Amino acid sequence: MPWHRKDLITLEELSLDEINQIHATAAAFKKILGRSVKKVPALRGKTIVNLFLEPSTRTRLSFDMAAKRLSADVISFDAAASSTTKGETLRDTAENIRALGADMIVIRHAASGSPLYLSNILDIPVINAGDGAHAHPTQGLLDTFTMREHLGDLRDRKVVILGDILFSRVARSNIHALSKFGAKVTLVGPSTLVPRWFAGPGVEVTHDLRGALAGAEVVMLLRIQHERQATASFPSLGEYTSMFGLNKTRAGWLNPRAIIMHPGPINRGVEIDNDLADGPNSVILGQVTNGIAVRMAVLYLCSGGQPENVIG
Ligand code: CP
Repeated sequence: MPWHRKDLITLEELSLDEINQIHATAAAFKKILGRSVKKVPALRGKTIVNLFLEPSTRTRLSFDMAAKRLSADVISFDAAASSTTKGETLRDTAENIRALGADMIVIRHAASGSPLYLSNILDIPVINAGDGAHAHPTQGLLDTFTMREHLGDLRDRKVVILGDILFSRVARSNIHALSKFGAKVTLVGPSTLVPRWFAGPGVEVTHDLRGALAGAEVVMLLRIQHERQATASFPSLGEYTSMFGLNKTRAGWLNPRAIIMHPGPINRGVEIDNDLADGPNSVILGQVTNGIAVRMAVLYLCSGGQPENVIG
């Protein structure tokens, strides 16, 4: 089936077939990234603007790298030095970027819904690089891509997401993707951060860490997102760590071959101990590497490229 979407806003709206198409295209790009010449001419002549209005290391740099590997010109918007500091609206900012000749905008914004809003205004592709606590679709895509590399078929695999679910766009995007793959998702953490209403078909909510981790094949740790929390959700970080931090003892409850994931940035010693973050079961840096191929696939497909032209 040909790719027909202009934008990538959420994984909720994608079919399993569309996610498979992105993953297959990413796998083809990953092979190309393993060659001595890593660049392809797919987006030569196109200009991509990275409009990041919230801090980012991994997502911004990997979109930048992905665009360059596709031979696009890339401009990174400097929010602190921009006229947004003088009160210019998001709409005016984006329309001016379009008027300057951008062919695609990658946006990160603290307000949920900003990418959808721009996608309805602009005639060029808009890619969501994270909006508030709503969605981080390329993170969900690269996370499930990484899980599939290690586990193969995700159907009935036990995947635990541990930590601040309530404020996490990463959790939401992973839940949507994993549900489509038929994984068994368990959400665990303090009741203030893991409300019961997240439960649904294929998604269990618990506050019992040992029961959640027992036999799991994937555990994904999430950072406490203080920047989105108006009130404290637990008494102190030390108390959070003592109840929900992943340490060696608790990792012993997992399936011995379980992979340990984290979208970053990591708060070492809070949600995960150093030994585990850097240990043999950790795939955290592999997630980062996979982010380039997955974002190449998204940029390529939303620019009108077709999967079969890369896959061959
Ligand atoms: N995973 C992730 O979104 O990291 P950054 O905030 O550094 O982009």
